[in-house]
Amino acid sequence: MKRILLSLVVVLSVFAVQAKTLVVYYSYTNNVHRIVNELVKQIEADIVKIEPAEKGLDYAANNYAIGSAQISAIRNNPEDASSYPTIDPVKVDLKDYDCIIIGAPLWWSNMAAPLQSFLFQYGKDMSGKKIWLIVSSASSGISGVESDAKRLIPDGKFFSSSLWIKSSQTSNSANLIRQWLKDIKYDSVSSLKAIANDYSKTSYTVYSISGYLIGRDMASIDNLKKGLYIINGKKIYKQN
Ligand SMILES: Cc1cc2nc3c(=O)[nH]c(=O)nc-3n(C[C@H](O)[C@H](O)[C@H](O)COP(=O)(O)O)c2cc1C
Repeated sequence: MKRILLSLVVVLSVFAVQAKTLVVYYSYTNNVHRIVNELVKQIEADIVKIEPAEKGLDYAANNYAIGSAQISAIRNNPEDASSYPTIDPVKVDLKDYDCIIIGAPLWWSNMAAPLQSFLFQYGKDMSGKKIWLIVSSASSGISGVESDAKRLIPDGKFFSSSLWIKSSQTSNSANLIRQWLKDIKYDSVSSLKAIANDYSKTSYTVYSISGYLIGRDMASIDNLKKGLYIINGKKIYKQN
């Protein structure tokens, strides 16, 4: 009976969980959109695309006047919600994710304004999460975008290095992403073992998805075969 109940809990939690990595991005001229499409061919992740509430704006017209005005408003008053352009409502529960990859176009050396709007609303819910940045610009360096992300996600665990893909390199994204994922050791940093370590150095439980208790210590995690597991009754993790 106990096992049946446990299996039921486990099956219910299987339905309640989502993948552990979230990719959130904005894209005006589709470069970041193409980059994200390549990225999710190489990792498992859920995707959220940010959309400005006001449709049809030409951010590049008149020497990028609208984009420039939005960035200036944020620079002048970054603590004021009204400095940020309104975006469509976003349905995301950040509690479901341990890792977040942010795909950002660069505008006037800053993070594109609509993506800053999202992070202004949700950045505080990302505390303790592992964060990486992918930035697309025509040519400008990306340190301003990194600073924006750190300002808007004050307690994120940022990982270096960010991936910078210039607009002219967009068609080579697949190769650049593959190399970057290797360089940042994405597989091991987002692995079951790393996540378990984050939960607690000493206390966690690992179940198979059919409900068997595998163990309560690091050794049981070290010896896991490839597959899906539930850790601390909460989520499914994939051991690669
Ligand atoms: C409003 C605006 C401002 C921009 N400012 C810069 C800039 O200062 N430096 C730069 O190298 N590229 C700049 N760009 C170019 C974008 O960073 C680049 O085209 C990027 O690939 C756009 O990504 P997306 O296609 O996903 O929107 C700007 C683009 C826009 C729309």
